[in-house]
Amino acid sequence: MTKAKIIGLGSYYPKKVLTNFDLEKMVETSDEWIRTRTGVEERRIAADDEFSSDMGTNAAKEALKDANLNGSDIDFILVATLTPDYIFPSTACLIQENIKANNAAALDIQAACSGYVYALTLAKSLVEAKTYKNVLIVATEKLSSIVDYKDRSTAILFGDAATACVVSLDGKGLEIKSTFLAASGKEADLLILPAGGSKLPASIQTVKEKKHYIQMKGKEVYKHAVRRMKEAIEICLKDANLTEKEISWLIPHQANERIIDAIAKRFEHLESDKVFKEVVHKFGNTSASSVGLALDILKKENRIKPKEKILLTVFGAGFTWGACILENN
Ligand code: UT7
Repeated sequence: MTKAKIIGLGSYYPKKVLTNFDLEKMVETSDEWIRTRTGVEERRIAADDEFSSDMGTNAAKEALKDANLNGSDIDFILVATLTPDYIFPSTACLIQENIKANNAAALDIQAACSGYVYALTLAKSLVEAKTYKNVLIVATEKLSSIVDYKDRSTAILFGDAATACVVSLDGKGLEIKSTFLAASGKEADLLILPAGGSKLPASIQTVKEKKHYIQMKGKEVYKHAVRRMKEAIEICLKDANLTEKEISWLIPHQANERIIDAIAKRFEHLESDKVFKEVVHKFGNTSASSVGLALDILKKENRIKPKEKILLTVFGAGFTWGACILENN
């Protein structure tokens, strides 16, 4: 059976850079603390008039160009975001209009930081079942809109960025060999934006209590992230009938360098030169955009050789997690 492939990639990140030194002036922290505890050096911040749909549109245009397609060739748009422009209409509909994908159905998915691998899995099923031909995936996050820049435990972590790819049966690209997804709602309150939904609609009280910002129990999230991404790697390798030795690149969710190192350490053959960490250094945690942005950087810099296999693994609020193996064909 012909397998789904990523036939085009693109990304976008805002111009404004927020460094650790900038943050030192905003909260009680230090460049040294942030680097040693997270690996983050700087992150990007969207302009006041730049939204998730704008960043996603720019990434989508680049991915379409890379795939040599027009908006009208796309028949399904999946947007992974936890910072949509609105609760409704979907950001997917806004991007559909911007790229003139008039033949496409459009849907947002909410799997937090795991959104890119969730979207790849859905896109693979849609194109392999021949229900849709060319699926555009966009992951886009304006996390700066939900971060409390007075809370040092979260302000230092997050950044804004978008990434996109086109998944199709036709053309050359990164074959999606196997994917694995999981979730556990038991831990929903460990990483949450409490207000603004039907349970706690916006009110003066919710604003006063800062309930429209990300709240995270960092230490507990950390432990689950390491355990779940390690399990996801093992399951995905088994499903693809591959060993860790056959993996050329490991791209874990770019949330914290220490989490990435802790995962890699649990495997004998995922040596440090195979483990991608540049996005966490230069962009911080960009949630759903994180692993797609990393993949796009590797591809643009021609660092993925023919036949090489890439393993993506993700973890996010929900909890949600998963993994995916790609092969450069
Ligand atoms: O994308 C979804 C998944 N998210 C993640 O994977 C994030 C997971 N969690 C983490 O990455 C880490 O838990 C953090 C980076 C958020 C925090 O690192 P940590 O090593 O777990 O630190 P901690 O929260 O245990 O804090 C240690 C100390 C505390 O002080 P005391 O109580 O020991 O006196 C904190 O108050 O560091 C203090 N601290 C800070 N100090 C300077 C917390 N944040 C900061 C800060 N600057 N920004």
